[in-house]
Amino acid sequence: MLDLENFGYTDGDVDTNRSSNGNIQDIIETRYSRRTALFGGLAAAALPGFVLTGCGEASGGVADSLQVSAGDVASSAGRVITLNGTVTGAPTTALNWTQLSGPPVALTGADTATASFVAPGVTSSTPLQFQFSAAAAGGGKSAVSTVTVGLPQLGFTPVAKSLADIVKVPDGYSVAVLYRLGDPIKAGTPAYANDGSDTDFSARSGDHHDGLYYFGLAASGTAPDPASNTRGILCINHENITSRYLHPNGQTSTGGIRPTAEVVKEIECHGVSIIEVSRAGSSGAWSYNQASALNRRITPFTPIEISGPAKGNALMRTLYSPTGVAGRGTINNCANGFTPWGNYITCEENWTGYFRRDASDLAARSAREQASLARYGRGAASSGNQGWTTAAPITAGDTRISKFNITIDPTTPADGTGDFRNEIYQYGWCVEIDPYDAASIPRKRTALGRMNHEGAWPGRFIAGVKPAWYMGDDAGGEYIYKFVSIAPWSAADATATNRLATGDKYLDVGTLYVAKFNADGNGTWLPIVFGQGPLTAANPTYAFADQADVLINTRLAADALGATKMDRPEWTAVNPKTGEMYCTLTNGPNRNGTTLPVDAANPRVYVDAPSTTRSNRNGHIIRLRETSDTTEATTFVWDIYVFAAGSDLDPANINLSSLDASNDMSSPDGLWFSRSANAGGLGTPLLWIETDDGAYTDVTNCMLLVGQPGQVGDGTTKAVTSTLSSGATVTTTTRIGATPGTSLRRFLVGPKECEITGIDTTPDGRTLFVNIQHPGEDTTTGFPATFPSNWPASQTNAAAVSRPRSATIVITKDDGGVVGV
Ligand code: FEO
Ligand code: CA
Ligand code: CA
Ligand code: CA
Repeated sequence: MLDLENFGYTDGDVDTNRSSNGNIQDIIETRYSRRTALFGGLAAAALPGFVLTGCGEASGGVADSLQVSAGDVASSAGRVITLNGTVTGAPTTALNWTQLSGPPVALTGADTATASFVAPGVTSSTPLQFQFSAAAAGGGKSAVSTVTVGLPQLGFTPVAKSLADIVKVPDGYSVAVLYRLGDPIKAGTPAYANDGSDTDFSARSGDHHDGLYYFGLAASGTAPDPASNTRGILCINHENITSRYLHPNGQTSTGGIRPTAEVVKEIECHGVSIIEVSRAGSSGAWSYNQASALNRRITPFTPIEISGPAKGNALMRTLYSPTGVAGRGTINNCANGFTPWGNYITCEENWTGYFRRDASDLAARSAREQASLARYGRGAASSGNQGWTTAAPITAGDTRISKFNITIDPTTPADGTGDFRNEIYQYGWCVEIDPYDAASIPRKRTALGRMNHEGAWPGRFIAGVKPAWYMGDDAGGEYIYKFVSIAPWSAADATATNRLATGDKYLDVGTLYVAKFNADGNGTWLPIVFGQGPLTAANPTYAFADQADVLINTRLAADALGATKMDRPEWTAVNPKTGEMYCTLTNGPNRNGTTLPVDAANPRVYVDAPSTTRSNRNGHIIRLRETSDTTEATTFVWDIYVFAAGSDLDPANINLSSLDASNDMSSPDGLWFSRSANAGGLGTPLLWIETDDGAYTDVTNCMLLVGQPGQVGDGTTKAVTSTLSSGATVTTTTRIGATPGTSLRRFLVGPKECEITGIDTTPDGRTLFVNIQHPGEDTTTGFPATFPSNWPASQTNAAAVSRPRSATIVITKDDGGVVGV
């Protein structure tokens, strides 16, 4: 057994106020005006035989003794509300609850005294009226209940920090495991043995589940239905692998040569899963459909098209595509984005490490090309992650493995059409995928720039306004970007049948910007456009040739423009109410005060024991508000929503947001706002924060928190003192949002050695999907007999001994309400 991992992957309360509503005139007016208006003319005759009365008013016969009452209720959006009717005094023949006014809801138990419903999302406190009626011999009576629904409020008790090997959620919530590493997605593919013997990952779930998105599916099973809460398509990224668990005894090699079968397995465990999922009934269990024709794996072998300005560029030409318009696959798919026309966006993050570059290649490249390769982390020789290119071809002449060796073959044409010297330029992009067409070819959208793309989350789509996608480049001292489409949003495009052509319209032409955060709380989006400012052939560090060259070398362009170097930009998220953009800055780097200064947007450098590493160890979340609240803006204001920290750390300079045991955290990474289609995303939208941490893991496993942020500028300015490695101290004035307090709570803690990442809900917010990435990835002791984590088997069997598997989980609230509120 040889472990080759060192080949180098771096990486509710319901307040019941009982009072009968007995004003007969009010009720009549409600029935004949308001209800008619709101419910499309539901006639008074819909309740035949009833004499409309308030509580206690007689109507004759046996019914004289009938008493009907219904209490008023105050609650908040997304919660399950129970309507309690009371009937006394006479035997009844019919009970009925009917909605009279307010946003329509689906009543459960409407023919009983106790009906319930999920409170709708609202943008301000909203009354809903319901009529409770009962019939008795000789007549009937009714009463009206008014339910006042307020803005959403967090509705759970915070989960304690945990080192247990299990996913923990609040009381009143349940967890189920949906889709695990190796699970088969084609009819006939056998169940996963999970002992290292399994093959054919082109028909199984990949490893290291990361970003995810739920697309609703119509009953036809083929067409989109953005409103479906019970049937959909999940797109799931598979970022990387824990190679140890993929083989019986870990990775092997003979004389430095990796077995091809092992390498193929490892490569195919990367990429994207597209799977059909459905719910049993409206409240049952979720499962994926192994035989669905929509199921698909996109791997580093899958044919793709290059689209946008870099299509056909000289740097895109390879032996596989001498015209530079196509390639094979996508890799290290980290976070994600979506389009309102039904397509998924997957983003290529730490792709550089997979490429082999022999020492002979160093002198064979031009100075300009060397500068480009160096800026993206391949300036020196490397064997490439996992030693893949040591393996023999899959079949004679097949280049799917050898494409990862970018070393120039001097016997081939100088334009790169005879080898894979340019293959590395085909990665680092955002890739658009049509999940509804399993035969569609993904397109790499080069207009969005080339970097360690974490995700690409859009701002709000407003008719007539050019939409934008916000993006982080995840490496120490890299930048935050925004792509603004050339095309103003047209709502008709949401239902376009040619979804990839719609992507061509919005994602192939536009302007890429990089962010500069000024110390005074203002900021600027700097356009990355060839010919503007320093982005010309006269630029001293890299002579730009054209717009394609600028995009292929986005980082060099951003350097030249003087963008702000950030503490590892990870996910972006957009508040659906305000349009404000949030970005996680997960941790580090170790700012030295000279080449990498401490600045207002990245003000912390410190040590968090027991580690002795000096950096922004715990990370923070920055947010910005575009001028005039438009995605087209070129200026903004900003502040820091929250500084992550253990609650034990210095409140003056580290735990600046006063986090406590209920919400302290480290290394925020995944970031997502609730969808505006449900209560969690309206009024005071919920922000979900996922951690990928190595600094607080002596105290707790990684976690998911949920908050209800205010807005940029709701806090204050504060002087923060950092101590640099040199011993020098530097004091920086930063801008801190309002202390979150109880408006930020820990919702979930994951199993051992995992990352929490990937998050979405069904449109109704009643089902939450979350990915648990790489449980048990760190500790090698005991393998292959025992494992540092036995999750997900440990979720239901604490004594399980089982190789850990990355997996998608489903979280629901036991009462059927919207998750989180
Ligand atoms: Fe794949 Fe930056 O996380
Ligand atoms: Ca600590
Ligand atoms: Ca991440
Ligand atoms: Ca990870």
